[in-house]
This record gives sequence, structure tokens and C-alpha cells, in this order.
Amino acid sequence: MSAVAKPFRRLFLPAGAMLGAAFVGIQFVHPPLENPPVTGDFQAPVAVKSIVQRACYDCHSNQTNLRWFDKVAPVYWQVADHVKDGRAGLNFSTWQSLPPADQKAKLWEAVNQIIAGAMPLNEYTLAHPAAKVSAQDVAVLKQYVASLAKNPPADTAKLNAADRQYRHWQPGAAQPAAVPVAPNGIAYLPDYKNWQAISTTERFDNGTMRVIFGNAVAVKAIRDKHINPWPNGTAFAKVAWDQLADAQGNVRPGAFKQVEYMLKDDQKYAATKGWGWARFKTPKLVPYGKTALFTTECIRCHQPMKNNDFVFTQPLSH
Ligand code: HEC
Ligand code: HEC
Repeated sequence: MSAVAKPFRRLFLPAGAMLGAAFVGIQFVHPPLENPPVTGDFQAPVAVKSIVQRACYDCHSNQTNLRWFDKVAPVYWQVADHVKDGRAGLNFSTWQSLPPADQKAKLWEAVNQIIAGAMPLNEYTLAHPAAKVSAQDVAVLKQYVASLAKNPPADTAKLNAADRQYRHWQPGAAQPAAVPVAPNGIAYLPDYKNWQAISTTERFDNGTMRVIFGNAVAVKAIRDKHINPWPNGTAFAKVAWDQLADAQGNVRPGAFKQVEYMLKDDQKYAATKGWGWARFKTPKLVPYGKTALFTTECIRCHQPMKNNDFVFTQPLSH
């Protein structure tokens, strides 16, 4: 048989057979997914650890347990990517190498992402329903994170700080001479005090209270249900105060801690996911970050909300 005949004949293979051959072929394209050694596994009470193991370990540990259907390409390629990216941001198998403060911050972030519905990934729980996290599981995790908090409620230092600030804000008290500007060029916007409160949250691990304000564009977008993506001109301010609790357990805001902004402009801020990010700390409004690169920290933590335009706060629907 001549050498030309073979390719010619291949052209006439039925389409189904060709697809089948392609399917078998791609099974050999398996970039390796290894389980590196566990050097410092996450330690927590059994009730907590079992939830995390069941729902998070496939992507956030070195003990990934792929089921047969995960190993079939092209699904496998996506799974391998999720594991690679998941481990890079959070790895429970190297947990002990994180300083305790970072462990607490990561856990807080993890619980928030579960509450926000970003984790575990939906495409994963579809195929692995056992990994779903129930409301009861969330309560267990929240309680654990809260139990790690050191601050007892209502200490006198916090009350004094609130009083000092209150005196500072009396009419006629000195205002900062110049408007502070973040390293990426975003200036402090005092006007947020006139925006509308969209949501409040309580950071259950470190005793702060937060209110999220939205400007008129944000409020209109919520009313019109045009919030994904949010329109250009949307602005959010998230303000945090100490949380003061009295003997009856009522809480009220104490000293001002910081204000953070997200300003939407998909052209101007294209390099930072369409948002301008800024944070000003303490009543002196000290801009956060040494260089404009501080925004990578903001984006990394907001990344799991990428399908919601990077915004955590989901306004209640009316
Ligand atoms: C199917 C894989 C998968 C599962 C299961 C999963 N995650 Fe993730 N997770 C990811 C990926 C991928 C990222 C990287 C961010 C992105 O691309 O959205 C991530 C990012 C995160 C981050 C941000 C880490 C950082 O960069 O600071 C946290 C926190 C997180 N996941 C918590 C959890 C928790 C808690 C669970 C279990 C309840 C969980 N994830 C389950 C894949 C997964
Ligand atoms: C440790 C994770 C984390 C980091 C880092 C982070 N954020 Fe957030 N951010 C959140 C969470 C969670 C919320 C949701 C509200 C809440 O629970 O406080 C939020 C909410 C916000 C909001 C209100 C809009 C929304 O998404 O709900 C703004 C504004 C904001 N963050 C700005 C920033 C800026 C600016 C930075 C960087 C200087 C930053 N954030 C860094 C976790 C983070």
C-alpha cells in the first residue's frame, strides 16, 4: 500500500469514531497532580476538622482524593487547575507554618467565603454533594473562629479610645490639613458619611463592627437589579469600628478603625479588576500600603467573589 492512502482514508472515518479517538487520546494528556508530604496539618476539634476535611481538603491540602470521574479528561484538567490554585492560596497541610495571627485571619476569610457561597466551588459540589456545607456546619465553624478571638467584650481601653475620638470630633476640632491619598492615587472621600448603609457585618473573630455604605449609583443599581457587573461610578465604603458590648450584651460602635473603598470604573481601573481600591486607617486616616501593589492583597481576598464582580455584599432583594 502506498504512503498516501492512509491519511486519505482517515478523512472518511465517521465523525463519532473520530471524537471517540480524540477522547481516548486526551486521556494521555495528564499533567501530573501530586500529593506533596503533609508537613503541618490543620489542628482543630473533630467537629470542625471533619467539616473542613470533607469540604475543602480536595483542593486545599496535600491530601487530594480524586474520584474516578475527576480523572477523566477534560474534567481532569480543570480539577488539576483548581487544586493548584486552591493550594496556592490556602493549604491545610502546611498550616502549622503560618503564624497564629495568619491562621486566624485565614480561618476568618474561609468562613466568610463559605457564607458568601463562594466556597467550596459550585462546580465541585455538583459532582461531590457530600462536600456541601450546611447552615449547621457554618454555625460550628463560626463558633470555633469566635472562640479563637482574644478580645473580651467591652474593655476599658476600648471605651476610653471611643471617648477620646468623640471629643476629637466635637465641632471645631481640628481636621487633617490635606486630603490623604492612597499609594495608587485614590484620595480619601469624606462624603461616604452621606451614602446609604447597604449592610452591616460583625467580624466575629476580632470584635469589630462594620457598615458598608453605597453611593447613589450603587443604590440605584440595587433598585434596578443591575449589580453584576456593577455600573461604572458605583462606590462602596466599608467602615470598621471597635465593637463595645455592655453587661447586658448589647453592642454599639466604639472607636473608628478604618475605612476602605471600592470605586468602579472598568476602564480606569482595568488593571485591578475594574475597581479602585483604597484603605485609610485610624482617625488620622493613614493611607494603607507602601506602593500601589497593596491592591493585590485586596484582590486576592476578594477573588473568590469574581463571579459577583468581586463584591461580597449581596444586597437583600426587595
Ligand atoms: C474544587 C476545589 C475547591 C474546593 C473544594 C474548595 N476550594 Fe477554596 N479555592 C479554590 C480555588 C481554585 C481558589 C483560588 C481562588 C479562585 O480562583 O477563585 C480557592 C480560594 C480559596 C480561598 C482564598 C485563599 C487566598 O488566596 O487567600 C479561601 C479562603 C478558600 N478557598 C476557602 C475554602 C474553604 C473553606 C473550602 C471548604 C469549605 C474550600 N475553599 C473548598 C478551590 C476550591
Ligand atoms: C482577609 C480578606 C480581605 C482582604 C485582604 C480585603 N477584604 Fe475587603 N472584604 C472582605 C470581606 C469578607 C468583605 C465582606 C464584608 C465583611 O464581611 O466585612 C469585604 C468587603 C469589602 C468592601 C465592601 C464591598 C464588598 O465587597 O462587600 C470594600 C469596599 C472592601 N472590602 C475593600 C477592601 C480593600 C480596599 C481592601 C484592600 C486594602 C480589602 N477590601 C481587602 C475581605 C477582605
